[in-house]
This record gives sequence, C-alpha cells and structure tokens, in this order.
Amino acid sequence: MNKSELFDKIILDLKDKLRFLEDKPEETPETTLKALWLTASGLAVSAEGSLGHSIPDLSEEQIKSLYDLIDLRISNTPLAHITNRQRFMGIDMLADRRALIPRKETEILGKKALEIAEIITKSKGKIKVIDVCCGSGNLGLAIATYNKKCELYATDLSQEAVELALDNINFLNLNERIRVRQGDLLSAFENDDFYGKIDLMVCNPPYILSSKVEKMDAEISSNEPVLAFDGGMLGIKIIQKLISEAPKFLTPEGWVVFEVGLGQGEFVIKLCERSKSYQDIQPVADSAGNIRVISAQKSS
Ligand SMILES: C[S@@+](CC[C@H](N)C(=O)[O-])C[C@H]1O[C@@H](n2cnc3c(N)ncnc32)[C@H](O)[C@@H]1O
Repeated sequence: MNKSELFDKIILDLKDKLRFLEDKPEETPETTLKALWLTASGLAVSAEGSLGHSIPDLSEEQIKSLYDLIDLRISNTPLAHITNRQRFMGIDMLADRRALIPRKETEILGKKALEIAEIITKSKGKIKVIDVCCGSGNLGLAIATYNKKCELYATDLSQEAVELALDNINFLNLNERIRVRQGDLLSAFENDDFYGKIDLMVCNPPYILSSKVEKMDAEISSNEPVLAFDGGMLGIKIIQKLISEAPKFLTPEGWVVFEVGLGQGEFVIKLCERSKSYQDIQPVADSAGNIRVISAQKSS
C-alpha cells in the first residue's frame, strides 16, 4: 500500500472514532491525521501547520508510531499535547499540559492588540507591552514576532505556565525582547519602572463560571489546568480586577485589550464605563456577532 492509500484508509477509519471540540475549528480528520503523520515522521507540527506540508513516506517503525499516536488521540489526549505544537496567529508554538492550549478565538484579541500596537509604534517609535495571564505566552510572543519595536513583559500566576512561556521564548528566539515573571495579575510589576509606563496591556483571563468549569468536556478538564478557566462565581473575577488595576500601569494614552466570555461583553463594557478610568471603550465581535474582545484607552 502506498502512502496515499494508507492515508485514505486511516482517514476512513478515524472519521467515526474522533471527536472534535468547537473551540478547535482547525482540527478535522484530515489535519489531525496529517499532524500525527508528520509528527511520527519526526517533524512535529500543529494541525494548522500541517497544511503547509505534504506527507512523507513512513518506515515500518514510523507507521507503528503513527498508530500509537492515533490511539492517544482517540483516547482524548489533545492533539496539541501529542504533537507538542499549537499554531497561534500563524506561528507554531510549544504546547503541553503546563498551560492552556491557545485557541483560535483568541486570535481576535491578538489581531486587535497588534492593530493598536502598530498605531502606538508609529507615533512613539517603540512600545512597552504587558501580556497578563500569559499562559504559554502565545499573545505576547505573537505581538513581539510581528512588532519588532516592542518590549514585552508577560506574567502568569502559574509557575508551570511561566516555565512553558520561557520555553516558547527560547523556541522562537525572542529572548532579547520578552521577559516573563510569575505573579498574581500585575503584582510582579508593582514598582516605578512600570507605573504609568505601559502603552498596551493584553489579557486573555480565565472567565468561565466556577459552576461550569466542573462540567467542561473531559478532554479539556483532564488535560488543561483549571486555573486557566475558572473566573469565579460570576466568571468575571479576574476581569474586574484587571479593569481596576490596569490604569495605574498605563501611560496617559495607554490601552487595555482583553477577551471576554460569551454573553459577558455588554456587562463588562458597563463596568469599564462605571470605573470612569477609560474612554473609547470598543467591543470587537466574532463572525457570529458575539462580543469577544474589549479595547479601552485610559481616560485623559
Ligand atoms: C484563559 S488562560 C489564557 C492563556 C493564554 N494567554 C492564552 O491566550 O491561551 C488564563 C491564564 O490566566 C492565568 N491566571 C489565572 N488566574 C490568574 C491570576 N490571578 N493572575 C495571573 N494569571 C492568572 C492562568 O494560569 C492561565 O494561564
């Protein structure tokens, strides 16, 4: 059997055995098998990254390894944990159990942050950014990759996430422009080097209601850290804290941009308005019209 025949045979079989989560739209039977095939061949790539490659011939040993990887996926191990890769804003990054697997939906936040970063960089020639709740570092890494004038700081409460972010910084050779610190929200930056000095703060906080975290799909709850999801009783515990603490760190014209959960947008906009610390509070919606990101500039 040649490689195309083997690929088609496995795909037919896989179609009935695989389950796909809504928040990983890039994963299909084809991209899943391709990513596993390439990983078995020795080239670790994400589902999305696999699209840029053709499938190589596999040795007998590699075919055996491919079947082992497929078994792992069928038993609900996330694809990103098997390949050790997840693509975010066009960049393959390291992914493992230490932090959330970056989701496609968070690219809405990444794109908005990059737009604002571009405007600030044009007027100032440089930009100082903090990625709060950085997890694997995906948002900060993408911003620093695409905006070469950016000095980036990333922070997370989880020491394991901080370690994965550090691995990612090395993986992408961004050591010169990114620093990572462990701490609760902005606590790692409580000093005069940061008060009033941040041009842009980005944050994808945990925002799932505690009561819903317990009911999440087993593929997620068994493999990704609960700290990445749990936003407290109402889901907005960290968002509320961010809204109240960010202004102290922002420059007079600085921006905060953050993701919100489905259905939280309108209320969170009201919280920003009520705080009186922000102007130009803008929602960004997904393709279905749901508010998923809010950007706000510090009020003058
Ligand atoms: C939804 S995940 C986002 C991770 C990553 N930024 C992304 O977009 O995939 C939320 C992150 O917030 C972190 N976190 C939770 N509570 C925190 C807190 N009080 N201070 C800082 N980080 C926190 C979690 O460890 C997790 O990495």
